[in-house]
Amino acid sequence: MEMSSGNLTADRRFAYAQLLRRDGDAAAAADVLAQTLELVPDWPEGRFALAEALADAGRKYDAIAAFEAYLESDPADSMGAAVKLALLTETAPVVLPEAYLRRLFDEYAPRFEKALREKLHYRAPEILRAALDETQPGTIFARVFDLGCGTGLAGVALRDRAAWLGGVDLSAAMVKGARDKDIYDQLNVGDMSAALDDLTERCDLIVAADVLTYVGNLAPLFTAVRQRLTTPGLFAFTVQRYEGEGFVLGAEHRFSHSRTYIETVSAQCGFQILRLDPAVSRQEKGVDVPGLVAVLRAN
Ligand SMILES: C[S@@+](CC[C@H](N)C(=O)[O-])C[C@H]1O[C@@H](n2cnc3c(N)ncnc32)[C@H](O)[C@@H]1O
Repeated sequence: MEMSSGNLTADRRFAYAQLLRRDGDAAAAADVLAQTLELVPDWPEGRFALAEALADAGRKYDAIAAFEAYLESDPADSMGAAVKLALLTETAPVVLPEAYLRRLFDEYAPRFEKALREKLHYRAPEILRAALDETQPGTIFARVFDLGCGTGLAGVALRDRAAWLGGVDLSAAMVKGARDKDIYDQLNVGDMSAALDDLTERCDLIVAADVLTYVGNLAPLFTAVRQRLTTPGLFAFTVQRYEGEGFVLGAEHRFSHSRTYIETVSAQCGFQILRLDPAVSRQEKGVDVPGLVAVLRAN
């Protein structure tokens, strides 16, 4: 493992962060290390040090994301992140079983749109469209990929901004709804991470409307999205907002993510935040569910 990042300013910041950490100020060390990684985002030593500082600062879920990001840059794990992760994640649920989600949405599909639109006042696709209109007015994106496309509501909202539109969903019944709309150039049934791996060409926009609520730890997915985006390409998504730290699985089996968690994972995975704003995508039992809309740009 190379101790120098190859960037003098980054090395100086790194050394300063180590001093801060040794003096017991892990939170400040984490801030300095985050700035260091802006200069050298792929440097494994820096990623690992940030993860340790976050763990020391008590930011458990941010630390988990950071250790995962480190493993992306050093799959051999020469610094022992797997052990750190095992200790940190002992009780943390980070994914929902695929089979569970598939069955849930296969059963939900026939009444999905009516239930979401009429009862839950669902509007994540329109919120994403508005966010993209503001950040990238008028752009026709060459290749757009819709993660967890469901019955294709986001496709409808974005079709006129996409020269080519692809989509994937775990549930065959939901994909049938999307196929019936006849607006996608390509549709796949399967897991979104696997579908990203299978993409033969990079996209300049990847969207996830109300889908990341089914994923706890976002770091592996963000990394996969980053790898399939052009530079600069955009990643636009909605999440449910958590006012605590990191992410949490709610009683309704949906994850909520904190703003700082989104910020940490975005930076770790090579994204710049263009927008990260409060937005209400749906209601639950007649009450607005707090959320966030994000538009990230691949660095
Ligand atoms: C609430 S729906 C949203 C559907 C669509 N994006 C929309 O805006 O109407 C969530 C969708 O995400 C899909 N999904 C959840 N986890 C997934 C995964 N790992 N891979 C692919 N699809 C997934 C579900 O099957 C479901 O269709």
